[in-house]
Amino acid sequence: MKEKRVMSGMRPTGKLHLGNLFGALENWIKLQNEYKCFFCIVDWHALTTGYEDTSDLQQYIREMAIDWLSAGIDPEKATVFVQSHVKDHAELHLLLSMITPISWLERNPTYKDQLKQLKEKNISTHGFLGYPVLQTADILAYKAEKVPVGEDQLPHLELSREIARRFNYLYKPIFPEPQALLNEVKTLPGIDGRKMSKSYNNTIEISDDAATIRQKVSKMITDPQRIRKTDPGNPEICTVYAFHKVFSDFEKRKEVDEECRKGSIGCVDCKQRLAEIMIETLNPIIQRRQELTKMPNYIDDVLHEGKKRAEEIAEQTLDEVREAMNLV
Ligand code: TRP
Ligand code: SF4
Repeated sequence: MKEKRVMSGMRPTGKLHLGNLFGALENWIKLQNEYKCFFCIVDWHALTTGYEDTSDLQQYIREMAIDWLSAGIDPEKATVFVQSHVKDHAELHLLLSMITPISWLERNPTYKDQLKQLKEKNISTHGFLGYPVLQTADILAYKAEKVPVGEDQLPHLELSREIARRFNYLYKPIFPEPQALLNEVKTLPGIDGRKMSKSYNNTIEISDDAATIRQKVSKMITDPQRIRKTDPGNPEICTVYAFHKVFSDFEKRKEVDEECRKGSIGCVDCKQRLAEIMIETLNPIIQRRQELTKMPNYIDDVLHEGKKRAEEIAEQTLDEVREAMNLV
């Protein structure tokens, strides 16, 4: 029996790219075999920065579900659901907001940072300030002990522990203090060598087909010192090689490394090799994605089943919370 609970979420803000796949999803896929996992498409969190234009939200939610399943999240093993389908998150968010000092939220580095970075959007909202309280509600609704996240989420998790501690102290010790499980990150740059990010327009999406992958790989930045095919190159500063490190096995990588340094392989060749290996690796995901896209009812069923399973647990927790706070 898998007893220990894992909870994590992603905001549905568009198609997933390979950075997401190797950054988070690969870890989730491993965890679903060992833990009772709750994987949540956090649409309410998407509103904290994207409340003005919500026209694509439903489409993004579906795309996210399809991306997760095609990458290997198994709805038989893990509970896959949408945050707004389980209203208990909202109730718990409200109750936790009563006991969370504003100063804890205002000193949150992610909050301060985002306020500065997203100047063009008006995010001086109650909802945005309370982002980590909602995230805490997501986690505590399932009494999750482990939360797989990237490093950028550590301040949020710290806050979740503080809120849990405060609840336990004020009312009744019912919540475990959730621990971060740091995603093991394989770093993939974007095709221009910067960090892979939608805002830089340098991503390779999980949903890209073979032709798109070939085209994007052909545009990747290589060692700029290499002008002629026979010039010796330095793979360590090359984007193509960074991808070989993730996609090619040890032998093939060593071959590329040696041939590049000797100047016996051209960058065009090297890119072609990479593109073919990527297509081979991603092919099962691409195939599954195409199939799932044709099965809208199946996706609905998965999310509905996920909602029911999540709700069952979250409702039990909320019963305990209401009782502890003398609300019943
Ligand atoms: N804040 C997380 C992020 O931006 C998303 C998130 C929302 C989350 N609720 C969560 C992560 C609960 C882990 C657990 O990546
Ligand atoms: Fe990069 Fe390959 Fe060209 Fe070397 S041969 S610079 S690793 S693309």
